[in-house]
Amino acid sequence: AQAEIGLIGLGVMGSNLALNIAEKGNTIAVFNRTAARTREFYEEAGDLKGQVVPCETIEEFVAAIRPPRPIIIMIQAGAAVDQQMDLLRPHLEANDIMIDAGNANFRDTMRRFDALKDSGLTFIGMGVSGGEEGARHGPSIMVGGTEESWKRVEKVLTSIAAKYNGDPCVAWLGENGAGHFVKTIHNGIEYADMQMIAEIYGILRDGLKMSAAEIGAVFGEWNRGRLESYLIEITEKVLAAADPITGKPMVDMILDKAGQKGTGKWSAIEAQNMGVPATGIEAAVAARSISAVKGEREAAEKILGLPDVPALQIADRAAFVKDLENALLAGKIGAYAQGFAVMSAASKEFGWNLPMPTIAKIWRAGCIIRSQFLDEITSAFTKAPDAANLIVTPAFAAMVKETDGALRRVVSTAALHGLPAPALASALGYFDSYRRARGTANVIQAQRDFFGAHGFDRVDGADSHHGPWGSGLNG
Ligand code: 6PG
Repeated sequence: AQAEIGLIGLGVMGSNLALNIAEKGNTIAVFNRTAARTREFYEEAGDLKGQVVPCETIEEFVAAIRPPRPIIIMIQAGAAVDQQMDLLRPHLEANDIMIDAGNANFRDTMRRFDALKDSGLTFIGMGVSGGEEGARHGPSIMVGGTEESWKRVEKVLTSIAAKYNGDPCVAWLGENGAGHFVKTIHNGIEYADMQMIAEIYGILRDGLKMSAAEIGAVFGEWNRGRLESYLIEITEKVLAAADPITGKPMVDMILDKAGQKGTGKWSAIEAQNMGVPATGIEAAVAARSISAVKGEREAAEKILGLPDVPALQIADRAAFVKDLENALLAGKIGAYAQGFAVMSAASKEFGWNLPMPTIAKIWRAGCIIRSQFLDEITSAFTKAPDAANLIVTPAFAAMVKETDGALRRVVSTAALHGLPAPALASALGYFDSYRRARGTANVIQAQRDFFGAHGFDRVDGADSHHGPWGSGLNG
């Protein structure tokens, strides 16, 4: 057995990951459900053929890998993964490791991990981010499983991961579902980032009546400032691209109906399960859902019309664009603060001991949300690993104070001119609620006590826990 590792599933992501592994000097055995694809992949491997062992049967594949065998499964998330594991399992030996590298729901990962517990085999749930390019040249990799199984794969994964100033963007984050949970929240944050960018685009397009190319130039400018990130960079590029068929801006020819495969929704659901607000992610998921009902929106515009508000008039366009930049930064702070708060709650809930500074670190390169900003989060959490929330760490508290005025102006301007900005508005609502020591839930508690005798705590700590609502029922 000469292969260091095996990989099943030679789709785009699997092929690219396999080539990346081979290119870094590791020998990899590969297997695909259809042998024709395996042969084709081997040909595509070109110069890297010497590092690839193409296998047409499972027996041959398993025999080609050095025990204990790490086997990456890179196929569509869901039931197909269980089926593949069932097919593989009878051929494996003690300590072999099945690695699911797809976008699995971490609850499935926990179940798969538990199912193998006493079998001698083990399971790694591994989040891989960075799309096709990342898989090929350096993704960010979030590993969940036993520490022992991590040690077996650490070297090869370190060799293929993206590097940020030389630091590999891969880490073992904890047992069982930890890696896939963190990847899910990565995607939830990705949804929020993308939605806030789209909202700013909408304000520029429908408020300032700017063309796609003009808006692209604004994002290009921002990518040289504090918002520097992969998502801003590609936004500039997509806004600059022309449709090969009509010659019009490509974005103007794309239907405003977004798809979603589940990770954003799972992030919001898990946040709700644990009682942690993740309003930026929720708003982003809801916005995709509203986008999907295009026909309903068309009908509604006919019935309701657009809001009867004055058109946006901006005297100082440069100042307004600066406000938009700062508003986006503030919104981003809100979404990341929430994402990290969800992970911190999950860490306790599932006993993972998730290392927050490490998570921020391995997101600095390779993944879709990679950015300069994540380096700032890394240093904030390195200095204060137990901070209750990112926005109360000194550096981020200062950033919130510096940018929330712009967020407030942008959200109110958008509202006054009927331009939807639900994710940006959610960040403002979050900041305004989180930073206010005396909120308004005393009224909620009084109402709950009134209609259901639910009781309340008093500000003076005194003993009466019911209000004088009458009929002697609650008093
Ligand atoms: C990544 C991406 C990648 C993908 C997801 C999200 O980190 O490389 O998040 O995993 O784009 O499938 O997809 P949806 O937008 O389709 O839910």
